[in-house]
Amino acid sequence: MINTAILGYGTVGSGIAEVLTMNGELIAKRAGDRLEIKHILDLRDFPGDPFESIITHDFEDILNDDSIKIVAEVMGGVEPAYTFTKKLLQKGVSVVTSNKELVAAHGPELIAIAASTNANYNFEASVGGGIPIIRPINTSFTADEILEISGILNGTTNFILTKMTAEGTSFDVALKEAQDLGYAERNPEADIKGFDPCRKIAILASLVLGKTVDYNDIYTEGIDKITPVDLEYVKKLNCALKLVASLKLLDEGVFVKVTPLMIPMAHPLSMVNDSYNAVFVKGNAVENTMFYGRGAGKLPTASACVADMVDSARNLGKNVKIDWSSEKVQLMPLDNTPVNALIRVKYNSEKDARNACSEVFSGCKFATLNHCFDEFAVLVENETEGSLSEKCAALKEKSAVSDIANIIRFEN
Ligand code: HSE
Repeated sequence: MINTAILGYGTVGSGIAEVLTMNGELIAKRAGDRLEIKHILDLRDFPGDPFESIITHDFEDILNDDSIKIVAEVMGGVEPAYTFTKKLLQKGVSVVTSNKELVAAHGPELIAIAASTNANYNFEASVGGGIPIIRPINTSFTADEILEISGILNGTTNFILTKMTAEGTSFDVALKEAQDLGYAERNPEADIKGFDPCRKIAILASLVLGKTVDYNDIYTEGIDKITPVDLEYVKKLNCALKLVASLKLLDEGVFVKVTPLMIPMAHPLSMVNDSYNAVFVKGNAVENTMFYGRGAGKLPTASACVADMVDSARNLGKNVKIDWSSEKVQLMPLDNTPVNALIRVKYNSEKDARNACSEVFSGCKFATLNHCFDEFAVLVENETEGSLSEKCAALKEKSAVSDIANIIRFEN
């Protein structure tokens, strides 16, 4: 028997207990021994819960129990999770986590501590919920230079965009449903404003490059400015709108961005709906690969945590190398990065505004919506973020143009 503990008995923590109960025999066979939950740390009491008797409010009960070999930290947030994880790893206890905030902020330090005490720090559930993506990057793509990762890495926003597009559901109603289903963060701004996928792509990019991509350096836009009219243009152009986090290695350097992106229906990412996530990975030898599955939710996320616990059990007393140093990656300045965009132009005079657009963006294309009498959209390609901003500013100065209602980036 291998004694384990869970820090945090919320959606994911209770999911871990459920998976370990539901699949206990199979898991024991695969881990080589039974994984027993000896303590669960939470501030709350859980009267009537099957694990009520092992709930503790004191972390020291776990830290001072020398029989504990593996801990699942699923509290979320940086503190106290950081302090607890550090103490456990320093003691040689392996830790698994779904905590993307902590991994993005302190990953290399915690990985190094685990290596120094022959323990393991595994975080498969921190990106893409139940989708295996961390382990493939660590073990399956080691022959390749990875050139691109593009992912739908947030279940909540994908659920909201899917509902708004397919059913015309309002933003607030779709968000409430995502919260009820346990997808959203405690503060849903982390989802809506893109901070959550920003941390997730920072983790993937750091693993790909073996150095730290600081999430503070990543240009991030969420879906909070997306309106039903934006979605009408997207539909009319036979595309889907997704919140996409991407890493690209170009000759000029590395760029990482999180933005809403209009994707043609022929692209596999366009078909990823509801709380599903998908990660597209392109390597210089393997070429194009794609990983797909539930990106949020109780049992899918718990599945990834428990799989990491099994991995830790198989490697008790032996550290499995993760290549991620604290050296910081210098990203390309945002202004130099390539972009295509749909620009919603509000006009005073349609004819003059179209001429102004053609003057500023030579070769641009136009799209219109039947019921919008004071605007059209301009589609521009092969700009940089810098040239796009400058040209949009120039366009706004034209007397025929009254405003720019929104700018939505797109993939070809
Ligand atoms: N709030 C996150 C999401 C949970 O919606 O994807 C999984 O990380």
